[in-house]
Amino acid sequence: QDEACAQRIETAKKTLGKQVVLLAHHYQRADVYRHADLTGDSLKLAYQAAQTDADYLVFCGVHFMAEVADILSSDEQTVILPDMAAGCSMADMASLTKVERAWRELAEVLSPDETVTPVTYINSAADLKAFCGEHGGIVCTSSNAGKILEWSFQQREKVLFFPDQHLGRWSGYQLGIPLDEMAVWDFDEPMGGLTPEQIKRAKILLWKGHCSVHQMFQPQHILRFRNQHPDGIVISHPECSFEVCSASDYVGSTEYIIKTIAAAEEGTRWLVGTELNLVSRIAEEFKSQNKIVQFMSPLVCMCSTMARIDPQHLTWALENLANGTVVNRIQVPQTDAGLAKLALERMLSIS
Ligand code: 13P
Ligand code: SF4
Repeated sequence: QDEACAQRIETAKKTLGKQVVLLAHHYQRADVYRHADLTGDSLKLAYQAAQTDADYLVFCGVHFMAEVADILSSDEQTVILPDMAAGCSMADMASLTKVERAWRELAEVLSPDETVTPVTYINSAADLKAFCGEHGGIVCTSSNAGKILEWSFQQREKVLFFPDQHLGRWSGYQLGIPLDEMAVWDFDEPMGGLTPEQIKRAKILLWKGHCSVHQMFQPQHILRFRNQHPDGIVISHPECSFEVCSASDYVGSTEYIIKTIAAAEEGTRWLVGTELNLVSRIAEEFKSQNKIVQFMSPLVCMCSTMARIDPQHLTWALENLANGTVVNRIQVPQTDAGLAKLALERMLSIS
């Protein structure tokens, strides 16, 4: 049945020819990833979406990635997400209402010279990117967060970073900002659960969001690996906790993880702290180079929402398209698209 689905996908792609391009994130399940024309981390996929001239972009990733593709592609191009339920639980941890409330509360406490740059991780809804566009802020991804923070501090005194506290903390720390100059903004509490003094002291206010997949990786997983394999190398995604990132040899985006292991010497052994589909794929790929790639957790840590884009949904979306019907179109409202594009283009011009 899987092979039958795979054949239907390839047949529909053939019928559509150059009209369609399939983009897939590195976390995408193997039975979908194999059909992709373009693959990448979220930054690379954003560039690719901005550059392709295909009429239809079928996005095998999560909702916010398809929104970015819609914002950066032209008005004549159409973006399709084969399953609308493919969201990102981290992105859902920040809403416009809550960010606007935080913004108002910060303005009440801070003096006019203590200005704040809003920075949103690309893992966020389009209206939050628009908020950043409107308020002199910017978007970042896991591969450029350091550079983006540097830019943000050139503009203003402080940063409000949402929704991933871990990426914000790790990137800020790498820039030399001490941990006691960062404060976690608990969006369910008035004033983020902070005192005016704590807010004034903080250089970075970190939204209390996280990735449910990356929070599963623990420092003890690294410790056990190092005890068993003293020559082993540890590489993690910056959505992991500060403790996991600190205990790793390398930290970076999904694209960085793949490139770093690809460039390593033959015979090396790696422990990888990121999503299971990616790790399983590269473990298989790098076997030929005699590299051993191990997953960090004893548990199954998968991006279950991205996995909703399965061969059945992809077949359905492509066959409809081949018959002239667009299903599951992602279309960011004009009111958000312009300002969100501004925040995204600020990012693209820096990275
Ligand atoms: P990358 O930018 O590294 O692709 O990460 C996106 C993501 O959602 C990781 O969980
Ligand atoms: Fe979102 Fe985490 Fe999935 Fe990345 S791995 S898309 S942050 S839920």
